[in-house]
Amino acid sequence: MRIEIPRDFERIGALQIFGLQKVYELDSGPGRRERDSMIERLPSDTLYDIMREMAIVVPVKEERLKLIEGVLVGIPSPCQVILVSNSARSPIDRFHMEQETMENFSRFTDKKVLVVHQKDPTLARAFAEAGYSEILDDDGLVRSGKAEGMIMGTLMAKWLGKKYLGFVDSDNYLPGAVHEYVKEYAAGFAMNPGAKTFVRISWHSKPKIVESNLFFAKWGRSSVHSNHILNRLLTNITGFETEIVKTGNAGEHALTLDLALTLEYAAGYAVETHHFINLLQEYGGIDRPPRNLRPGERVTLCQIESRNPHMHASKGDDHVEDMIDASLSVIYHSRLCPASLKAEIMANIRMRRGDNAPAEPFPMRIYPALSQIDLPTFFERWQAGFRRHSPVVGSS
Ligand code: GDP
Ligand code: CO
Repeated sequence: MRIEIPRDFERIGALQIFGLQKVYELDSGPGRRERDSMIERLPSDTLYDIMREMAIVVPVKEERLKLIEGVLVGIPSPCQVILVSNSARSPIDRFHMEQETMENFSRFTDKKVLVVHQKDPTLARAFAEAGYSEILDDDGLVRSGKAEGMIMGTLMAKWLGKKYLGFVDSDNYLPGAVHEYVKEYAAGFAMNPGAKTFVRISWHSKPKIVESNLFFAKWGRSSVHSNHILNRLLTNITGFETEIVKTGNAGEHALTLDLALTLEYAAGYAVETHHFINLLQEYGGIDRPPRNLRPGERVTLCQIESRNPHMHASKGDDHVEDMIDASLSVIYHSRLCPASLKAEIMANIRMRRGDNAPAEPFPMRIYPALSQIDLPTFFERWQAGFRRHSPVVGSS
């Protein structure tokens, strides 16, 4: 891959945020790593070496099997796939169909795919006994939601001994885009080899049909709002106006497991924005010194602009406003948010919601960092019930 070296950055305590990086060549072949003042050439071998230590978590809920299969087609073979499904088991056992599809697929391709169900009682028990019952609902099973699925995927990646963790939605129509995201995750880790690195993708365009023509929109409707307010927050912290944040709610992202285990997860649509806030809270050194850091260690966040258009299953426009509210809510309720920014957030909500605007954004459920889990107990309980309850395809 040939990729731009970031031009600007913001430094907040131990956290370094790099500006958006363009990709100039998706595959620049094998050979030597080269770099001039503008561009770095990352040979394919370098990227594959990283992918061998990477797990890709694919959250699934009632997606068409053809779509899920397309996503798997796009994930490069060195990666371990972890499919976390919350699809129905009755009246039609969708999960069973997903398992069969995965089994066939991994037989043809020799792919490593671990398949788990979000409502697996073994997992629920493992969570309860390892001291993380926040994630359980009244029935004692893991709550529904993508964030909860991501938490499970993170723990599975740790269980399989992986170093890097990436997320790819299962409703992506373009296997080529999925392929590109994973390569870009690897490129981000290659360029930032520290133990605590976050890579976030800003897709280049999102195709829409406007007056019977394809129109390539640059920014998603919700990212405009969350990027703007996150930049306002950084401006408040540093005293210098900035527009560095371009990936406030980037669903396509990857991070080292070392970092993932130290971060909180917000439920609902707020998970990605909250990761950003939580990085600032944990590592920005703003109102308390950073914890979880080795002497001299830094946390790096890099943002890469992908080249494929982003196309996923359309589930209607209804939830866009809810997504924006959820993202803004975690910024509003963060202890870093000054009163002036709270007022800006409320002005934004009133502008979009009119008379329906609440007096304050509804607070999101926040799950504590996974470092609080007793990992040996969790893995032991999970492994004990794993063979009996949980289907696995080509694990590790
Ligand atoms: P959007 O792309 O942000 O509009 O949200 P989607 O509805 O497409 O969801 C993103 C991804 O999460 C898709 O791959 C869904 O199949 C998956 N997903 C949604 N809800 C759940 C859930 O409760 N559990 C799991 N494991 N995955 C989910
Ligand atoms: Co989607």
